[in-house]
Amino acid sequence: MSDIMSETQQDPTAESRKSDHIELAFASQVDSLAIDTRFSYEPMLSAHPSQPLQAVTFAGKTMRSPIWVSSMTGGTEKARIINRNLAEACAEFGMGMGLGSCRQLLDSDERLPDFDFRAVIGEEQPFYANLGIAQVEQLIARKELWKVDRLIEKLQADGLFIHVNPLQEWLQPEGDIIQHSPTETIAAFLEQSSVKVIVKEVGQGMGKESLRALMKLPVEAIEFAAHGGTNFSKLELLRSTGMHRDIYLSIARIGHSAVDMVALVNELLEEEGSDIRCRQFIVSGGIKNFLDGHYAIEKIQAQAVYGQASGMLKYADADYASLRSFVESQIKGLQLARAFFKVK
Ligand SMILES: Cc1cc2nc3c(=O)[nH]c(=O)nc-3n(C[C@H](O)[C@H](O)[C@H](O)COP(=O)(O)O)c2cc1C
Repeated sequence: MSDIMSETQQDPTAESRKSDHIELAFASQVDSLAIDTRFSYEPMLSAHPSQPLQAVTFAGKTMRSPIWVSSMTGGTEKARIINRNLAEACAEFGMGMGLGSCRQLLDSDERLPDFDFRAVIGEEQPFYANLGIAQVEQLIARKELWKVDRLIEKLQADGLFIHVNPLQEWLQPEGDIIQHSPTETIAAFLEQSSVKVIVKEVGQGMGKESLRALMKLPVEAIEFAAHGGTNFSKLELLRSTGMHRDIYLSIARIGHSAVDMVALVNELLEEEGSDIRCRQFIVSGGIKNFLDGHYAIEKIQAQAVYGQASGMLKYADADYASLRSFVESQIKGLQLARAFFKVK
């Protein structure tokens, strides 16, 4: 009797757990053909992870987690809540953050509180403003780059994301037409400004020759914003109707996935050698979870973190607790992956 008592005390959930196992055995059959072939599972070589993730130096800062909150929003009341939650998560978990387009702040401070989260995110974490290539082109033409300096100063940002989105601008009824190639505009910006720049797409990724041109510029980093997740060509078409939508929808199927872009970056690092001036990357676009992130940053032969936009958004527009649990689970997942899943 005393033996049974002590067994129950030692393992109080044993009985219900054992019944669950019997109950759920048939529901938990898996198909060997659906194995995730990106990893080799190595259960023999590590203990359970007990240490925090190793810190990573990125864009001149030390991040406690190799995760980036990709640029999303600002300029509305809801955006303010989202950005505050995201900034708080970055502070707690040591992640970097890009703001959504800060165009509204170039000429007015009215919406500044929606973006102004340096005090929340803290000094240690990378925190970047964001403008589109069309705005940068216009600011250069008007000799108004001082407005970018003022924006960076107002937000106490570490630098500027320039998003390159020619398809989105073309498909958006209110979109801007760009007059020069983005490479020319970014080169001109870098010549005339001392602001650190990270260049990104918005969900279509980019091909090898664009990457080659970009990697030869002295940009701080490149964010993929690859194809496979949120796609702004599709999103803009969902905002329109009828013939316009039907004609252009096939454009949303063109692009480069994050995995493809990792391979392209690796090829370029080898082909271009010392001509490469940018060696830091945020692998993003369609990164669904820590496994995608783990795979990509292990595969790329450069300093890299992984980024998520919609994945974070799903939890960031509720209370902080939901976002917190989401990020915490991702980080624990990444720790587990690093211990047991060797990238092939
Ligand atoms: C609601 C929302 C708003 C976005 N706004 C911007 C933006 O203002 N500037 C920008 O560079 N990218 C913007 N993006 C694109 C993201 O930064 C990211 O590149 C893209 O969503 C792909 O990542 P995902 O597949 O993880 O969502 C936005 C994405 C979302 C979901």
